[in-house]
Amino acid sequence: MAKEKAVGIGVIGFGTIGTGVVKVLQRNADVIERRLGFPLRLVRVVDLDLETDRGVDLGDVRFDSDSDSLIEDPAVDIVIELIGGYDVAKQMILRSIEAGKHVVTANKALLALHGKEIFDAARKRGVDVAFEASVAGGIPILRSLREGLAANHIESVYGIMNGTTNYVLTQMEATGEDFDVVVKRAQELGYAEADPSFDLDGVDAAHKLTLLVAMAFGADLTYKDISTEGIRGLTPVDFAAAAEFGYRIKLLGIAKAHRGPDGEESIEARVHPTLIPKTSLLANVDGAMNAVAVCGDAVGPTLFYGAGAGELPTASAVVGDLIEIAREVRRGAAGRVAPLSYLPHELSPRPILPLDDIVGRAYLRFSALDRPGALAHISGILGDHDIGIESVSQTGQGGDGESVPVLMQTDPVRESVLREALDEIERLSDLSAPTRLIRIEEEL
Ligand code: HSE
Repeated sequence: MAKEKAVGIGVIGFGTIGTGVVKVLQRNADVIERRLGFPLRLVRVVDLDLETDRGVDLGDVRFDSDSDSLIEDPAVDIVIELIGGYDVAKQMILRSIEAGKHVVTANKALLALHGKEIFDAARKRGVDVAFEASVAGGIPILRSLREGLAANHIESVYGIMNGTTNYVLTQMEATGEDFDVVVKRAQELGYAEADPSFDLDGVDAAHKLTLLVAMAFGADLTYKDISTEGIRGLTPVDFAAAAEFGYRIKLLGIAKAHRGPDGEESIEARVHPTLIPKTSLLANVDGAMNAVAVCGDAVGPTLFYGAGAGELPTASAVVGDLIEIAREVRRGAAGRVAPLSYLPHELSPRPILPLDDIVGRAYLRFSALDRPGALAHISGILGDHDIGIESVSQTGQGGDGESVPVLMQTDPVRESVLREALDEIERLSDLSAPTRLIRIEEEL
């Protein structure tokens, strides 16, 4: 039987992931071809930096800075966009689509903001846009939602979607060190970027959750709809208290579908540090690893664990996309898979459940002045709002000399009620700093 022709690949962006893609295409060419029946052929690589030694031999692959000509090159069937960012990446993707090329990208920030425009353009042109690497790196969570779990009404999707923050939280807990010390070390070790704001402030996790919400529920949200809080401001005292109360602290992205009595569905979508029971599976996901849990009405709970970043794990997801698209190209089926799992006209805006309406237990760290009556004033106001206190712990450590941390777990309370009580408590003269609230999730 005549061998089928190779599918041509062009890579724009020869950084960490681009290098990983070249390595995987080279070292796993055999297994890829045994699965596809034809090879994937790297045709061209583009980057502005033509000097740095990436430790891979490109052989006769053309390497230059000319992205326009890569996009127009008839030998390139699939363009991989790995430059990140918004404007230039968007233009390159749209130009590739216009040129009839399929696109693979890891750019969650771009898709969370401009996904609709990009997917519309691809649909009209009959090409595919695949983005498995954009959420949870090497974990095939998007393909699982789109295919393996497609039989289900998805009830919830949640998890640890950012490796940088999970590394920082794990280290703070293990060492008792301050946030700034741990972040600096994470940067030195390559776990955090020079500017880690997107990670530390929860923005990166919110980008990923935006894509997961669309794929899980068919809900058309932008990432601005997601209530987002990062991990800054957590102190060693919080980790010690969490442990004492039986929890660990994780930055979670949480999305759930709620059906009202009239059948209308609303979506809860939030990113914030969360206390979760230390015996739960998610609580034991440490370091830079990610884990995403999906609960479907038929399948029940599922959990996906793996590396959320890194050269080869992310390249594994990118090349997996290449294989899927290449297969469709050869079978003449390109453009037939809805990128967000639901058919485009089935994606619809859904009301967002306000954070104020969420009911749950909370951990509170008050910075109380070390004087008689302070604790009584705080608990009095909580009592006035019918907020039960499950436990209290006061430590002499971690304060500023005049104040001491008072740590509490509340009973379940509506967030709006808790906020009202905390506003009132802030007005007391017994506090030296704003109160830290961390939500507790027993079961998601
Ligand atoms: N900065 C991301 C993280 C990796 O820390 O998880 C890419 O998504």
